[in-house]
Amino acid sequence: MRIKKVGIVGAGTMGSGIAALVISAGVPVVLLDIPGQGEDRNEPAKKGVERALKSRFPAFMDKDLARYIEVGNIEDDLAKLKDCDWVLEAVVERLDVKRDLYAKLEGVLKPTAIVSSNTSSIPMRHLLEGRSEAFRRRFLGTHFFNPPRFLKLLELIPTPETDPEALEAIRRFGERILGKGTVLAKDAPGFIANRLGVFGMVQTLRLMERHGLTIDEVDALTGELLGRPKSATFRTGDLTGIDVLLLVARELSEATGEDFRLPEWVERLAASGRLGDKTGAGFYKKEGEEILTLD
Ligand code: NAI
Repeated sequence: MRIKKVGIVGAGTMGSGIAALVISAGVPVVLLDIPGQGEDRNEPAKKGVERALKSRFPAFMDKDLARYIEVGNIEDDLAKLKDCDWVLEAVVERLDVKRDLYAKLEGVLKPTAIVSSNTSSIPMRHLLEGRSEAFRRRFLGTHFFNPPRFLKLLELIPTPETDPEALEAIRRFGERILGKGTVLAKDAPGFIANRLGVFGMVQTLRLMERHGLTIDEVDALTGELLGRPKSATFRTGDLTGIDVLLLVARELSEATGEDFRLPEWVERLAASGRLGDKTGAGFYKKEGEEILTLD
Protein backbone atom coordinates (compact mmCIF):
# COMPACT_ATOMS: atom_id res chain seq x y z
CA MET A 1 0.00 0.00 0.00
CA ARG A 2 1.82 3.13 -1.22
CA ILE A 3 0.74 6.70 -0.61
CA LYS A 4 1.23 8.67 -3.82
CA LYS A 5 -1.36 11.42 -3.36
CA VAL A 6 -2.69 13.00 -0.16
CA GLY A 7 -5.98 14.84 0.38
CA ILE A 8 -6.17 17.35 3.23
CA VAL A 9 -9.52 18.76 4.30
CA GLY A 10 -9.23 21.92 6.41
CA ALA A 11 -6.70 24.52 5.27
CA GLY A 12 -6.20 26.31 8.59
CA THR A 13 -3.09 26.37 10.77
CA MET A 14 -2.60 22.60 10.73
CA GLY A 15 -4.02 21.62 7.35
CA SER A 16 -1.87 24.18 5.54
CA GLY A 17 1.19 23.27 7.62
CA ILE A 18 0.75 19.57 6.90
CA ALA A 19 0.22 20.36 3.22
CA ALA A 20 3.56 22.20 3.19
CA LEU A 21 5.24 19.22 4.80
CA VAL A 22 3.80 16.69 2.36
CA ILE A 23 4.53 18.83 -0.70
CA SER A 24 8.08 19.42 0.45
CA ALA A 25 8.50 15.63 0.31
CA GLY A 26 7.43 15.80 -3.37
CA VAL A 27 4.03 14.19 -2.82
CA PRO A 28 1.05 15.98 -4.43
CA VAL A 29 -1.77 17.30 -2.26
CA VAL A 30 -5.43 18.17 -2.77
CA LEU A 31 -6.32 20.86 -0.20
CA LEU A 32 -9.99 21.62 0.51
CA ASP A 33 -11.74 24.00 2.89
CA ILE A 34 -15.24 25.42 3.22
CA PRO A 35 -16.48 27.52 0.27
CA GLY A 36 -15.62 31.22 0.37
CA GLN A 37 -18.32 33.84 0.90
CA GLY A 38 -17.26 35.96 -2.08
CA GLU A 39 -16.90 35.21 -5.78
CA ASP A 40 -13.99 32.85 -5.42
CA ARG A 41 -15.37 29.70 -3.78
CA ASN A 42 -11.86 28.36 -3.29
CA GLU A 43 -10.59 31.40 -1.42
CA PRO A 44 -10.28 29.71 2.02
CA ALA A 45 -8.18 26.88 0.55
CA LYS A 46 -6.07 29.39 -1.40
CA LYS A 47 -5.41 31.26 1.86
CA GLY A 48 -4.18 27.95 3.22
CA VAL A 49 -1.72 27.65 0.36
CA GLU A 50 -0.43 31.17 1.07
CA ARG A 51 0.02 30.19 4.70
CA ALA A 52 1.83 27.03 3.67
CA LEU A 53 4.22 29.04 1.52
CA LYS A 54 5.07 31.28 4.44
CA SER A 55 6.18 28.34 6.55
CA ARG A 56 9.74 28.61 5.24
CA PHE A 57 8.93 26.66 2.14
CA PRO A 58 11.84 25.68 -0.09
CA ALA A 59 12.11 28.46 -2.68
CA PHE A 60 11.87 26.19 -5.73
CA MET A 61 8.49 24.99 -4.63
CA ASP A 62 7.09 28.47 -4.94
CA LYS A 63 6.98 28.45 -8.72
CA ASP A 64 6.24 24.74 -8.97
CA LEU A 65 3.43 24.81 -6.47
CA ALA A 66 0.62 24.32 -9.00
CA ARG A 67 2.15 21.00 -9.95
CA TYR A 68 1.91 19.73 -6.41
CA ILE A 69 -1.15 21.32 -4.92
CA GLU A 70 -4.73 21.45 -6.09
CA VAL A 71 -7.24 23.54 -4.14
CA GLY A 72 -10.99 23.32 -3.83
CA ASN A 73 -13.95 23.50 -1.50
CA ILE A 74 -15.96 20.76 0.17
CA GLU A 75 -19.22 21.59 -1.58
CA ASP A 76 -18.02 21.53 -5.18
CA ASP A 77 -14.83 19.52 -5.16
CA LEU A 78 -15.03 16.44 -2.92
CA ALA A 79 -14.60 14.34 -6.08
CA LYS A 80 -11.04 15.70 -6.34
CA LEU A 81 -10.23 13.38 -3.43
CA LYS A 82 -11.24 10.22 -5.25
CA ASP A 83 -7.75 9.20 -6.30
CA CYS A 84 -6.09 10.12 -2.99
CA ASP A 85 -4.49 7.25 -1.09
CA TRP A 86 -4.72 9.08 2.23
CA VAL A 87 -7.21 11.78 3.23
CA LEU A 88 -6.35 13.68 6.38
CA GLU A 89 -9.05 15.69 8.11
CA ALA A 90 -7.82 18.88 9.82
CA VAL A 91 -11.04 20.85 10.19
CA VAL A 92 -12.17 22.82 13.22
CA GLU A 93 -12.18 20.84 16.51
CA ARG A 94 -15.92 20.13 16.54
CA LEU A 95 -17.38 16.66 16.64
CA ASP A 96 -20.48 17.54 14.58
CA VAL A 97 -18.41 19.15 11.79
CA LYS A 98 -15.98 16.24 11.61
CA ARG A 99 -18.72 13.59 11.60
CA ASP A 100 -20.61 15.42 8.91
CA LEU A 101 -17.52 15.52 6.74
CA TYR A 102 -16.81 11.77 7.16
CA ALA A 103 -20.36 10.96 6.09
CA LYS A 104 -19.72 12.90 2.88
CA LEU A 105 -16.29 11.34 2.34
CA GLU A 106 -17.65 7.85 2.65
CA GLY A 107 -19.45 8.11 -0.68
CA VAL A 108 -16.53 9.64 -2.55
CA LEU A 109 -13.21 8.01 -1.70
CA LYS A 110 -11.79 4.92 -3.33
CA PRO A 111 -12.28 1.80 -1.20
CA THR A 112 -8.59 1.49 -0.36
CA ALA A 113 -8.17 5.12 0.76
CA ILE A 114 -7.02 5.63 4.34
CA VAL A 115 -8.78 8.39 6.30
CA SER A 116 -7.33 10.01 9.40
CA SER A 117 -8.14 12.81 11.80
CA ASN A 118 -5.73 15.37 13.17
CA THR A 119 -7.99 15.96 16.17
CA SER A 120 -6.20 17.04 19.35
CA SER A 121 -8.69 15.66 21.79
CA ILE A 122 -11.80 13.96 20.37
CA PRO A 123 -11.79 10.17 20.85
CA MET A 124 -11.78 8.16 17.62
CA ARG A 125 -14.77 6.11 18.75
CA HIS A 126 -16.89 9.27 18.90
CA LEU A 127 -15.71 10.44 15.49
CA LEU A 128 -16.64 7.08 13.97
CA GLU A 129 -20.22 6.88 15.20
CA GLY A 130 -22.53 6.15 12.26
CA ARG A 131 -19.75 5.08 9.88
CA SER A 132 -19.67 1.80 7.97
CA GLU A 133 -17.43 -1.10 8.87
CA ALA A 134 -15.39 -0.51 5.70
CA PHE A 135 -14.76 3.13 6.65
CA ARG A 136 -13.79 2.13 10.21
CA ARG A 137 -11.18 -0.31 8.92
CA ARG A 138 -9.45 2.47 6.98
CA PHE A 139 -9.58 5.05 9.78
CA LEU A 140 -7.13 6.16 12.47
CA GLY A 141 -5.93 9.27 14.28
CA THR A 142 -2.81 11.04 12.99
CA HIS A 143 -1.97 13.83 15.38
CA PHE A 144 0.67 16.22 14.06
CA PHE A 145 2.13 19.01 16.17
CA ASN A 146 2.40 22.67 15.37
CA PRO A 147 4.31 23.71 13.29
CA PRO A 148 4.08 20.38 11.42
CA ARG A 149 7.18 20.96 9.31
CA PHE A 150 9.40 21.38 12.34
CA LEU A 151 7.98 19.32 15.20
CA LYS A 152 9.09 15.76 14.95
CA LEU A 153 6.35 13.89 16.78
CA LEU A 154 3.42 12.19 15.08
CA GLU A 155 0.97 10.38 17.36
CA LEU A 156 -0.83 7.50 15.68
CA ILE A 157 -4.12 6.44 17.21
CA PRO A 158 -5.52 3.24 15.73
CA THR A 159 -8.84 1.86 16.94
CA PRO A 160 -9.45 -1.86 17.54
CA GLU A 161 -11.00 -1.91 14.05
CA THR A 162 -8.17 -0.21 12.16
CA ASP A 163 -6.67 -2.47 9.51
CA PRO A 164 -3.03 -3.12 10.57
CA GLU A 165 -1.97 -2.58 6.95
CA ALA A 166 -3.46 0.93 6.94
CA LEU A 167 -1.68 1.74 10.20
CA GLU A 168 1.59 0.40 8.83
CA ALA A 169 1.23 2.39 5.59
CA ILE A 170 0.79 5.64 7.53
CA ARG A 171 3.56 4.80 9.98
CA ARG A 172 5.97 4.11 7.12
CA PHE A 173 4.94 7.26 5.22
CA GLY A 174 5.17 9.36 8.39
CA GLU A 175 8.62 8.11 9.26
CA ARG A 176 10.29 7.58 5.89
CA ILE A 177 8.71 10.26 3.71
CA LEU A 178 7.79 12.95 6.24
CA GLY A 179 10.71 12.32 8.62
CA LYS A 180 8.57 12.02 11.76
CA GLY A 181 9.07 9.97 14.87
CA THR A 182 5.83 8.09 15.48
CA VAL A 183 4.32 6.91 18.72
CA LEU A 184 1.27 4.70 19.12
CA ALA A 185 -1.27 6.25 21.47
CA LYS A 186 -4.40 4.74 22.97
CA ASP A 187 -7.76 6.26 22.10
CA ALA A 188 -7.78 8.15 25.39
CA PRO A 189 -8.79 11.82 25.79
CA GLY A 190 -5.95 14.08 24.61
CA PHE A 191 -3.89 10.99 23.71
CA ILE A 192 -0.42 11.46 25.22
CA ALA A 193 1.07 14.86 24.47
CA ASN A 194 -2.06 17.01 24.84
CA ARG A 195 -3.24 15.28 27.99
CA LEU A 196 0.06 16.35 29.55
CA GLY A 197 0.45 19.65 27.67
CA VAL A 198 -3.00 21.08 28.40
CA PHE A 199 -2.76 19.95 32.03
CA GLY A 200 0.56 21.83 32.26
CA MET A 201 -0.96 24.91 30.67
CA VAL A 202 -3.96 24.96 33.02
CA GLN A 203 -1.76 24.55 36.10
CA THR A 204 0.60 27.28 34.87
CA LEU A 205 -2.28 29.72 34.39
CA ARG A 206 -3.67 28.98 37.84
CA LEU A 207 -0.27 29.54 39.47
CA MET A 208 0.12 32.72 37.44
CA GLU A 209 -3.13 34.09 38.85
CA ARG A 210 -2.29 33.03 42.39
CA HIS A 211 1.12 34.74 42.27
CA GLY A 212 0.06 37.75 40.18
CA LEU A 213 2.55 37.07 37.38
CA THR A 214 2.45 38.71 33.95
CA ILE A 215 2.49 36.98 30.55
CA ASP A 216 6.11 38.05 30.01
CA GLU A 217 7.13 36.72 33.41
CA VAL A 218 5.45 33.36 32.82
CA ASP A 219 7.10 33.01 29.42
CA ALA A 220 10.47 33.98 30.87
CA LEU A 221 10.03 31.23 33.47
CA THR A 222 8.62 28.53 31.17
CA GLY A 223 10.71 29.13 28.03
CA GLU A 224 14.41 29.81 27.74
CA LEU A 225 15.15 29.09 31.39
CA LEU A 226 13.79 25.56 30.98
CA GLY A 227 15.75 25.05 27.77
CA ARG A 228 12.60 25.49 25.64
CA PRO A 229 13.27 28.84 23.93
CA LYS A 230 10.45 28.37 21.43
CA SER A 231 7.93 26.64 23.67
CA ALA A 232 7.15 29.18 26.37
CA THR A 233 3.54 28.94 27.56
CA PHE A 234 1.93 31.93 25.86
CA ARG A 235 4.07 31.92 22.71
CA THR A 236 2.92 28.34 22.18
CA GLY A 237 -0.67 29.37 22.94
CA ASP A 238 -0.55 32.00 20.18
CA LEU A 239 0.93 29.52 17.74
CA THR A 240 -1.72 26.91 18.57
CA GLY A 241 -4.62 29.38 18.42
CA ILE A 242 -6.54 30.46 21.53
CA ASP A 243 -9.83 29.24 20.02
CA VAL A 244 -8.28 25.81 19.45
CA LEU A 245 -6.89 25.74 23.01
CA LEU A 246 -10.31 26.50 24.46
CA LEU A 247 -12.02 23.81 22.37
CA VAL A 248 -9.42 21.22 23.34
CA ALA A 249 -9.58 22.16 27.04
CA ARG A 250 -13.38 21.90 26.98
CA GLU A 251 -13.27 18.56 25.20
CA LEU A 252 -10.75 17.20 27.73
CA SER A 253 -12.86 18.36 30.70
CA GLU A 254 -15.93 16.63 29.28
CA ALA A 255 -14.12 13.45 28.31
CA THR A 256 -12.20 12.96 31.57
CA GLY A 257 -14.49 14.58 34.13
CA GLU A 258 -11.36 16.43 35.33
CA ASP A 259 -11.07 20.19 35.39
CA PHE A 260 -9.07 21.33 32.34
CA ARG A 261 -10.92 24.64 32.00
CA LEU A 262 -8.93 27.74 31.12
CA PRO A 263 -9.64 30.96 33.05
CA GLU A 264 -12.37 33.37 32.05
CA TRP A 265 -9.92 36.01 30.75
CA VAL A 266 -8.68 33.60 28.09
CA GLU A 267 -12.30 33.09 26.94
CA ARG A 268 -12.66 36.88 26.75
CA LEU A 269 -9.54 37.20 24.59
CA ALA A 270 -10.93 34.72 22.08
CA ALA A 271 -14.37 36.35 22.13
CA SER A 272 -12.74 39.68 21.22
CA GLY A 273 -11.23 38.09 18.11
CA ARG A 274 -7.69 37.77 19.47
CA LEU A 275 -6.99 34.17 18.49
CA GLY A 276 -3.18 34.24 18.31
CA ASP A 277 -0.81 34.25 15.34
CA LYS A 278 -3.60 33.54 12.85
CA THR A 279 -5.28 36.88 13.63
CA GLY A 280 -2.06 38.83 14.30
CA ALA A 281 -2.84 39.23 18.01
CA GLY A 282 -3.51 36.90 20.90
CA PHE A 283 -1.55 36.91 24.13
CA TYR A 284 1.01 38.83 22.06
CA LYS A 285 0.65 41.23 19.18
CA LYS A 286 2.98 41.43 16.20
CA GLU A 287 3.80 44.98 15.13
CA GLY A 288 6.27 44.85 12.27
CA GLU A 289 9.26 43.01 13.61
CA GLU A 290 8.36 43.74 17.19
CA ILE A 291 6.30 41.42 19.36
CA LEU A 292 4.45 43.13 22.18
CA THR A 293 2.47 41.66 25.02
CA LEU A 294 -1.08 42.90 25.01
CA ASP A 295 -2.38 44.10 28.37
P1 NAI B 1 -7.95 26.37 12.33
O1 NAI B 1 -9.05 27.06 13.03
O2 NAI B 1 -6.68 27.08 12.04
O3 NAI B 1 -8.47 25.79 10.92
C1 NAI B 1 -9.63 25.04 10.79
C2 NAI B 1 -10.03 25.09 9.32
O4 NAI B 1 -11.13 24.22 9.13
C3 NAI B 1 -10.46 26.48 8.84
O5 NAI B 1 -9.73 26.82 7.68
C4 NAI B 1 -11.96 26.31 8.56
O6 NAI B 1 -12.42 27.13 7.50
C5 NAI B 1 -11.97 24.84 8.18
N1 NAI B 1 -13.26 24.19 8.23
C6 NAI B 1 -14.24 24.31 9.14
N2 NAI B 1 -15.26 23.48 8.84
C7 NAI B 1 -14.88 22.81 7.72
C8 NAI B 1 -15.47 21.81 6.91
N3 NAI B 1 -16.66 21.32 7.21
N4 NAI B 1 -14.79 21.35 5.84
C9 NAI B 1 -13.57 21.84 5.53
N5 NAI B 1 -12.95 22.78 6.25
C10 NAI B 1 -13.61 23.25 7.34
O7 NAI B 1 -7.69 25.02 13.16
P2 NAI B 1 -6.35 24.19 13.29
O8 NAI B 1 -5.54 24.75 14.39
O9 NAI B 1 -5.74 24.01 11.95
O10 NAI B 1 -6.94 22.79 13.81
C11 NAI B 1 -7.44 21.81 12.92
C12 NAI B 1 -7.46 20.47 13.64
O11 NAI B 1 -6.12 20.13 14.06
C13 NAI B 1 -8.32 20.48 14.92
O12 NAI B 1 -8.90 19.21 15.06
C14 NAI B 1 -7.29 20.74 16.02
O13 NAI B 1 -7.70 20.25 17.26
C15 NAI B 1 -6.09 19.96 15.48
N6 NAI B 1 -4.78 20.37 15.96
C16 NAI B 1 -4.45 21.70 16.13
C17 NAI B 1 -3.17 22.05 16.56
C18 NAI B 1 -2.77 23.47 16.74
O14 NAI B 1 -1.70 23.73 17.31
N7 NAI B 1 -3.54 24.45 16.26
C19 NAI B 1 -2.14 21.03 16.85
C20 NAI B 1 -2.57 19.68 16.56
C21 NAI B 1 -3.85 19.38 16.18
